[in-house]
Amino acid sequence: MTFQHFQETAITRFNDFFGSPDILPPAKAKRLLAAMEYSLLNGGKRIRPLLVYASAQACQCDLALADYPALAIEMVHAYSLVHDDLPAMDDDDLRRGKPTCHIAFDEACAILAGDALQTEAFSLLSQPIKGLSATQQLTMLHTLATASGVYGMAGGQSLDLGAVDKDVDLAYLETMHNHKTGALIKASVLMGALCHPQLSQETTQALSDYADAIGLAFQVQDDILDVISDTQTLGKTQGADAALNKPTYVSLLGLEGAKAKAKQLHESALLAIEPLGENAQTLRQIADYIIQRVN
Ligand code: IPE
Ligand code: IPE
Ligand code: MG
Ligand code: MG
Ligand code: MG
Repeated sequence: MTFQHFQETAITRFNDFFGSPDILPPAKAKRLLAAMEYSLLNGGKRIRPLLVYASAQACQCDLALADYPALAIEMVHAYSLVHDDLPAMDDDDLRRGKPTCHIAFDEACAILAGDALQTEAFSLLSQPIKGLSATQQLTMLHTLATASGVYGMAGGQSLDLGAVDKDVDLAYLETMHNHKTGALIKASVLMGALCHPQLSQETTQALSDYADAIGLAFQVQDDILDVISDTQTLGKTQGADAALNKPTYVSLLGLEGAKAKAKQLHESALLAIEPLGENAQTLRQIADYIIQRVN
């Protein structure tokens, strides 16, 4: 299957699943639900759901088992973007080619939409799911929660805000990127793998090493694109990092240095999953896709 075919199949699957009536049923708080749907359904590359499906595929699991974890991680990601764009954080007015949630609605509504996307993600993933054991679900929930909080995304966002107008070293930057972006990317891969009830230690380690590499590569790439791409293509304001005086891989290593770092991480990712053979082909293609956008 070509990557494009897998991407289309997985995204159609994701959209159909999201559209089923019991996922986000009507609520009394209509405006809040509308803000949540606006933030979740306004496009996006869906890299995290793709990774959940591709990782489940690499572990030879039925893709249906990956529906809930794929949705849950994208909801947490959507929440992180809504809050990332708020005036108190990056103060952005464009996301995925549309006004950010707090512009389309209002700030209080955007805060609540983020809160509710997050908690709803955990609500959906914690109900009984056909084909997954309670232990599998509990491990997925623990993985997602840890990757979202102070030891993951939220922690990274705090390090990010703490670095504005400061000279930080490469070690700080790497820790910040691994937390704010790498953690949720890694959780996507691990949750896909958790669709398998008894994965070997070797396979789990291979996937974990792959996820560490592409997780960091993804934010290095985001830093590069912020410099070399344009607002129309990105669907978000180009040059936002420099405008806010944020340290990035480009500001620390220069454009060529950042590209070299992305390339090196790409190679590490491929090396990590070499033992998984043909089953991991889609994961390889996702690593290529991440890097191709900057090299
Ligand atoms: C943007 O993530 C924020 C980062 C963590 C770099 P994506 O580039 O995956 O954004 P969407 O989901 O495609 O809009
Ligand atoms: C975002 O990093 C990481 C998140 C946890 C949302 P950025 O602030 O660089 O993401 P963009 O560039 O606004 O998408
Ligand atoms: Mg930010
Ligand atoms: Mg931002
Ligand atoms: Mg960015």
